[in-house]
This record gives sequence, C-alpha cells and structure tokens, in this order.
Amino acid sequence: MANKSVLIIDGDAASRAFLEMTFRKSGLTVLQTGLGREGLIFAWRDRPDLIVADPNLPDLPGETLVAKIRQDARTSQTPCIALSSDPNPERKAACLSAGFNEYLVKSAQAIPPLLEAITRLLSGKPVTGISRQGGMLFVFLSAKGGTGTSSLCANIATNIVKNEPESNVAVADLVLPIGSIGQIVGYQGEMDLFSVSELPAEQATDVFLRENLPKPPLWDFQLLAGCPDPEKGTLLQAKRVPELVSKLQQAFDYVLVDLGRSLSRISLPIIQQADVIVLIVSTDLSTVTLTQKVLEYLKAQGIKSERVYTILNRAVGLEGLTKPEAEKILGIDIQVTLPYMGSNFTLANNQHQPIIHKFPNDTTSISLKQISTDLAALARRLRTA
Ligand SMILES: Nc1ncnc2c1ncn2[C@@H]1O[C@H](COP(=O)(O)OP(=O)(O)OP(=O)(O)O)[C@@H](O)[C@H]1O
Ligand SMILES: [Mg+2]
Repeated sequence: MANKSVLIIDGDAASRAFLEMTFRKSGLTVLQTGLGREGLIFAWRDRPDLIVADPNLPDLPGETLVAKIRQDARTSQTPCIALSSDPNPERKAACLSAGFNEYLVKSAQAIPPLLEAITRLLSGKPVTGISRQGGMLFVFLSAKGGTGTSSLCANIATNIVKNEPESNVAVADLVLPIGSIGQIVGYQGEMDLFSVSELPAEQATDVFLRENLPKPPLWDFQLLAGCPDPEKGTLLQAKRVPELVSKLQQAFDYVLVDLGRSLSRISLPIIQQADVIVLIVSTDLSTVTLTQKVLEYLKAQGIKSERVYTILNRAVGLEGLTKPEAEKILGIDIQVTLPYMGSNFTLANNQHQPIIHKFPNDTTSISLKQISTDLAALARRLRTA
C-alpha cells in the first residue's frame, strides 16, 4: 500500500487518531478531518486514493457526503468505506445505496476487515465496465440433475450469514423452466423471478430488491424464488435476467445463484460475471464424465479453473467413485467431499429446515460451514489478485 493516500473523515478525535496510527503503520499517507464539509474539500483538492468516513458526522449525514463524492468527476471513482458505530442494517443499506463501497461496524475486531477492504479496494480496477464489483457472486452448477445443487446453494447461503452476521445475502433461483429453492425453504409467496422480471426496470431497482425480497424463516437470506410453473418459465423475458443479477450484486454482499444444469444463453454471461463457480458433482460415473465436458466448455469460454470450486456430493448413496478417481477423470482438484446423509438430507428439505439447524452436529453441517468460509475467502482472494 506504499504511495497510497487515505482520507479519514470522522467526528470523533480518538477514532481519527487511532485510525491514523493504524493506517500509517500500513504504509499509507493519511489526511484527516472531523467535518464532512472539510472532508469534501480535501477529497476534491488532494484526491486521496481512498476515503474512510464515519457516516455519523457532526455537520452532514454520510449518505449526503458520499453522494457528493460520487457526483463530482474528481472523486466519482474513489473507493469509500463507511466505518460506522451504527450496526442497523437499514443504515448500512442506505449508506451502500448512497455510494459507499463497504460498510463496516466499529469494534475492536473491525481493523483486520478494514485493512483487508482497503487493500482490496486500492488494488481494484476502476469502478466502471463489466467488472467484478458489488457483492460477491457465486453460481451453482451441475452437469446432471439430482446432484444436490439447489439444496447446497440454499444451505451454503445460510452458513455464509451465520459466519458473517453483518452481511446481507441473497439467493436467486434461475433454474428454468421451474425453480425448486422456494420449495426447499418453504416459501410460497407471489414474488419470484417471473413476477420481478415483469416489473418495469425503474421499479425493480437494487433498493427495491433489498427491501422487498422475502426472508424465509430460519434461512437468514433473502430469496428471489424461481419460476413457479413451467409455463411462466417459458414466458420469462430472458434478457432481463443478467441485469437482475447485477442489481442483486449492488444490493447484497453475497449473491448465490442456482443455475442447475443449464449452460444456456442466459447462464453464460452470469457465469462469466461470477466470482466463483461452484460445481456440484455426484459420485456416479456418468455425472463425473458429463462434468468433465462442462469443465472443458467453461475453459473454452475463458473461465480459469482457479474460479471453479468443486464439491463432490455423495447425494446418491455410499457407492460410486472415490475422490481421487473423480479427480482423475475431471482433471482438476476437488476442494471438498460431502458425505452421504441418508434420508436426513431429504428430511431437512421436506421440513424446510437448513441442515445446520436440523442436524447441527452432523459432519455435513461442519463441512457446509467450512465450505462457506472457504468460498468467501476464495472470492476475496480472487478480487485482490
Ligand atoms: N449429501 C447428501 N446426502 C443425502 N441426500 C442428499 C445429499 N445431497 C443431496 N441429497 C438429496 O438429493 C436430492 C436432490 O437434491 P437437490 O434438489 O438439491 O438437487 P438438484 O441437483 O438441485 O436437483 P435438480 O436437478 O432436480 O434441480 C434431494 O432429495 C436431497 O435431499
Ligand atoms: Mg435443483
């Protein structure tokens, strides 16, 4: 972080002094002020590489501050981090939608994630074009049906919230012509991919999605349920879908998309935009062989294998290929194997309960937690690479 400068805008003198010391130790040049208006003057005059601001300023709200920063050509691309004493998710949402790139809550533990965010944002590409920006995007894919793709997508999303309670997480079921995550989590409402894609674009904004997507009890994430029936699935305006995914990324810290086994016109741009492609493979020979073809296809589309996170899921029973046998056919490493849970997995699904809630001590729960941590870390690493 040498030669980079950061502007601290924080009404609390002790906070400012502490941050200044911390940033200097990391090799950053530091400017600081306790007032929002002065912060704006410094930002426009001195053009810091990054701004860290407490949204509770004595003279103006952080939302106004960041909006002015974004409106001015000199600072429209400057990364801004809100470091706030307010843990309220609504405040977080307001700050992010006003233009902050990150929202972190002040605490004794806040410094490592703050430095991590600074490193990431300082090394980031400009905030334009189709780049990996906004929330992390994970797409879930399989080569064959019944491998556990939808169940794992939902369960991993819940574990991400458990690991990072401050984060907001969305799951989008893009499996056509009919979705299944609504059924797994027990959601029966009217809002789904079809109904949202019928709304005018100016209505289906990131703020709308964040405020209106349902949060099924126990699951802790917000859901964009799939098409409710095959007829709607065929009527869906496919061209609206990638745009919806981008809006979800603007609205949420993590967006997990179930693509099922579709490598279609709709899914390819989403796969290319994804931070990580989670490939679910079951242990039968035909699924593994087909998965190898999917991997070849992804490679031909320019998707690097470092973006692919492979889960071997013993969804069908104890028989089947071992991990080394499957790896040999696939030609890549499998990151993790999930054990066969017998009828317990289906039982949890039928009762619309996350595995971690129904069977907290099961090995699968422990693995799901670890996978969720690994995925978030991989995505962060890839963005800073
Ligand atoms: N590790 C496991 N142990 C036991 N059962 C499992 C395991 N993983 C998945 N299952 C079961 O496999 C079935 C299929 O799961 P799921 O619907 O998530 O798969 P899918 O790949 O999304 O299927 P589809 O192609 O229908 O979309 C479910 O009944 C689920 O309970
Ligand atoms: Mg499915």
